[in-house]
Amino acid sequence: MGDGSPAIDALQHTGATYPPPAAIAAGAVVRDPGVWERAAADPIAWWEEQAGHLEWSSRWTRTLDDDDAPFFRWFTGGTLNIATNCLDRHLAERGERVAFHWEGEPGDRVTITYRELHARVSRFANALRGLGVGRGGRVAIYMGMVPELPIAMLACARIGAAHTVVFGGFSAQALCDRMIDFGATVLVTQDEAWRAGKTIALKASADQALAGAPGVAHAVVCRRTGGDINWVEGRDAWFHDLEQAADPDCPAEPMDAEQMLFALYTSGTTGKPKGIVHTTGGYLTGAASTHRMVFDLHDDDIYWCAADIGWVTGHSYIVYGPLANGATSVMYEGGPGFPAQDRLWQIVERYRVSILYTAPTAIRTFMKWGDALPAGHDLSSIRILGSVGEPINPEAWEWYRQSIGGGQAPVVDTWWQTETGSMMISPLPGLNTLKPGSASRPLPGISARVVGEDGQDVPDGQGGYLVIDRPWPSMLRTLLGDDQRYVDTYWSRFPGLYLAGDGCRIDDDGDFWLLGRIDDVMNVSGHRLSTIEVESALVDHPAVAEAAVVGRADPITGEAIAAFVTLRDGVHGDEALIAALREHVAQQIGPIAKPASIVLTPDLPKTRSGKIMRRLLRDVSEHRQLGDVTTLANEEVVGEIAAQAATNPHGED
Ligand code: WT7
Repeated sequence: MGDGSPAIDALQHTGATYPPPAAIAAGAVVRDPGVWERAAADPIAWWEEQAGHLEWSSRWTRTLDDDDAPFFRWFTGGTLNIATNCLDRHLAERGERVAFHWEGEPGDRVTITYRELHARVSRFANALRGLGVGRGGRVAIYMGMVPELPIAMLACARIGAAHTVVFGGFSAQALCDRMIDFGATVLVTQDEAWRAGKTIALKASADQALAGAPGVAHAVVCRRTGGDINWVEGRDAWFHDLEQAADPDCPAEPMDAEQMLFALYTSGTTGKPKGIVHTTGGYLTGAASTHRMVFDLHDDDIYWCAADIGWVTGHSYIVYGPLANGATSVMYEGGPGFPAQDRLWQIVERYRVSILYTAPTAIRTFMKWGDALPAGHDLSSIRILGSVGEPINPEAWEWYRQSIGGGQAPVVDTWWQTETGSMMISPLPGLNTLKPGSASRPLPGISARVVGEDGQDVPDGQGGYLVIDRPWPSMLRTLLGDDQRYVDTYWSRFPGLYLAGDGCRIDDDGDFWLLGRIDDVMNVSGHRLSTIEVESALVDHPAVAEAAVVGRADPITGEAIAAFVTLRDGVHGDEALIAALREHVAQQIGPIAKPASIVLTPDLPKTRSGKIMRRLLRDVSEHRQLGDVTTLANEEVVGEIAAQAATNPHGED
């Protein structure tokens, strides 16, 4: 394991096990205990069966093309349209069914049926055509959680254009970089977003970003709060005006299975985010089949994924998976604590949510807010609970099952990544016996292993690198514009094996225990950030000479960003400067990247070859006994940093 490896037994098995509740096992979507074996015996047939649940315009001629490995292609020769699969094919039998119960943060509510969604998507698709977007076009989307966000995504898919959704919490600079890298010609955004009772000025950030991205000729603006915004005549247009003026009839374009559906940027181990490329047929096959099987989706379920569509979880499990399955979803705009800390439980009660999917950091926050809040609501509709984004500690897992799931609901801990497109390691709630803290085992059709430095399987119970040793349909195809980085990042460490970047161990029953990242990637509240990205943002500030950033364990957010900064000669370091540095990082990347603590130090601990010792800084941040420091070039600095860190253990938020 590398320098970033977490303690192997960070998550101790509590010994508790939970077999599937009889009521769920009896009627489960997947009931056959032989399903893993069947899929493993003939994975190609398994994926053909899953792809067969979709509507294809023309059937594929080759299921898996591995001629160019690791540039795998799936369902080649086949054509389909994602919007047709998510909308049109439901109209005949379930057109009046609710696609989204949408709830705004201030309390406004909108119910959108499949028929209505189809109509709005068709019009907006024509509106995009009017802005010169067609097959192969590129659209950037920078919005809050409003219905117009999935409408914009599906409109792109309908006309064969690719989208990149940039999370609304990212800065103007981050948006600008992504629009340029993606080659967007249109940006869809909104005036302002609601978050925790405040407005976030998305259009103002978009204006700044657009100033640096001249290739983006049009900005489409959704009116949400009605707040004042700047307007550029000729460039800007109102979303609803365009939608209303557009032709309601928009035939969907049959797209090649391997056509790019979207790119989503995520942090890697360098300062430059990676554009993860997902295509059409394989991606939807993975998202739809896992959504149906892992959540045990039935016709009468009310499903709620409380993530943001700006992340892959929202792409696969708010938009594409649930809509492909014709599910009824809840979509919520705002913060979990607004106007009160029981907002989520109000929503569960109001819509009788039966499947809830959220992140460990949220679960730990609810736990901290206390049992009385969920206990004050009727949560008896809950049937299945899901967790995603980081390892879930057994205590939070048990609390989730007990206090939200009424001591009954299975908790499916789903491991996957932006790169994998859909869930990879997860229980099937009708079959697996659950262990709090374990994601169970690879889903049918997925083959994962844990290997050591030599690429050989480690013995059960021992930690190692998680790898996937067989291609799967929803896998990333490449990094946008950087095939070489794709090969280097995922396929070069162990030839022929996909390197996930996570540590893992497998227990005697074959259950997988995820152990966190093994590289310089942090996981803060389930959001992925690279240490180097934050370091670059700090060094960009004129007062800073050098910076080192580590993720330190945090009881709520999983990891918190701890920064160590040396100032330029003559700069006076004080509280005001620390606040300014945090703000600078927010400006550069976004508020999620603000360091929780910044320690000013005259020097950083370095090896003799000049490499910053992040492991040591992590030890300091977590107040651990320091190990051997004699390999350091500047041993004396360690005591000083430790003393500083002790007086400034935490930041403001
Ligand atoms: C990284 C991927 C997948 C959507 C959200 C995050 C960590 C994710 C789990 C889990 C342990 C998990 C991994 C992974 N992760 N889910 N259930 N148990 N770790 O997507 O931003 O691409 O991050 O999140 O470290 O590599 P992402």
